[in-house]
Amino acid sequence: SIHPVILCGGHGTRLWPRSRKNRPKPFLPLLGSRSLFQRTLDRCTAPGPFAPPIIVAGADHVALIEGQWGDHGEEARIVVEPEGRNTAPAIALAAALLPPEAIMLVCPSDHHIADANAFRDAAATAAQLAGEDYLVAFGIEPTAPETGYGYIQQGEAVPGGYTVKRFVEKPDAALAEAFIVDGGFSWNGGIFAFRAGHLLDELRDLRPGMASLAQQAAAGARREDHLILPDADAFKAITGESIDYAVMENTQRAAMVPVSMGWSDIGNWRALHEARPHDDAGNSVSGPAKLVDCHNVAIDSDGTDVTVQGCENIVVVVDNGRVLITAMDRAQDVGKLAGSDTDLP
Ligand code: GDD
Ligand code: MG
Repeated sequence: SIHPVILCGGHGTRLWPRSRKNRPKPFLPLLGSRSLFQRTLDRCTAPGPFAPPIIVAGADHVALIEGQWGDHGEEARIVVEPEGRNTAPAIALAAALLPPEAIMLVCPSDHHIADANAFRDAAATAAQLAGEDYLVAFGIEPTAPETGYGYIQQGEAVPGGYTVKRFVEKPDAALAEAFIVDGGFSWNGGIFAFRAGHLLDELRDLRPGMASLAQQAAAGARREDHLILPDADAFKAITGESIDYAVMENTQRAAMVPVSMGWSDIGNWRALHEARPHDDAGNSVSGPAKLVDCHNVAIDSDGTDVTVQGCENIVVVVDNGRVLITAMDRAQDVGKLAGSDTDLP
């Protein structure tokens, strides 16, 4: 079976003012009535090869998770990080808590995937390759030279995918441009399949300190009901690093499974607008709003009536007394506007 490992950490500010420190993006119902976190759980607990999910999260996310997991909570477990150390330690901790032969499927909790069946097919393919000791990434067809993603250059064909010739995390703009022009690259979707024992073996080579501290943290873990509390001193002693930099850029044993599943990491308001349904003029509306002679306008209101006339390529957000209006092509910069306005009362 496949063990889903769902990551909840960090707090995006690029969907401000909707996302705040105490109301982070994974827990917002941004597309439809269920949150991105709930839809992540739905996707990898549907009938199929999945074992109960392991959610790795910061202590400040536990109440949000318990409030949203519904029936999934009967079997799921939350591994509580005493402090965030980025994704590599979170994944290593989950690996150390699982038997070495377990296949883990690492899933971010804040992505949108339109086609859950394509996701599950790719998960099965990736799990096969992980069982043959490949570190497997999901490859997404790139559409622009985005600098916020990892880039995967495909190597030789393997069943259901390719070996990874080169993995470059968050290249600068010129390099991203060169990769797109070259053509043999995919975006890293941030979803991975690993055999738990293999990941720890690789980590022992690449980041020995992290590997041994993660194993100590797991060995000293206490269970409290559905919570797993790792040894805090050991975990906090780990130097934070993402799995992309720590492992994927350096391993010789990576593979990539290409998948077309309507993926978006909903990284900013433009991406959310693109993932939402549109009217004939390309506008998307969530909440009460009236648009007159508008084109490519996104409205997101928590209840206040919004009327926009004769505008193009803008985003309007109303939330709890805050109003944001931004040009669509500046959506990426919204995080800088949030400033200290992070907590809701
Ligand atoms: N438990 C836990 N602890 N989860 C974390 C932590 C942490 O300290 N830090 C981040 N996460 C979670 C986030 O909530 C998110 O769901 C996921 O791990 C990925 O972290 P991000 O911080 O969102 O990474 P990124 O978007 O910059 O880059 C990654 O995703 C891209 C695709 O969206 C990389 O894997 C890129 O290569 C990839 O292209
Ligand atoms: Mg992300």
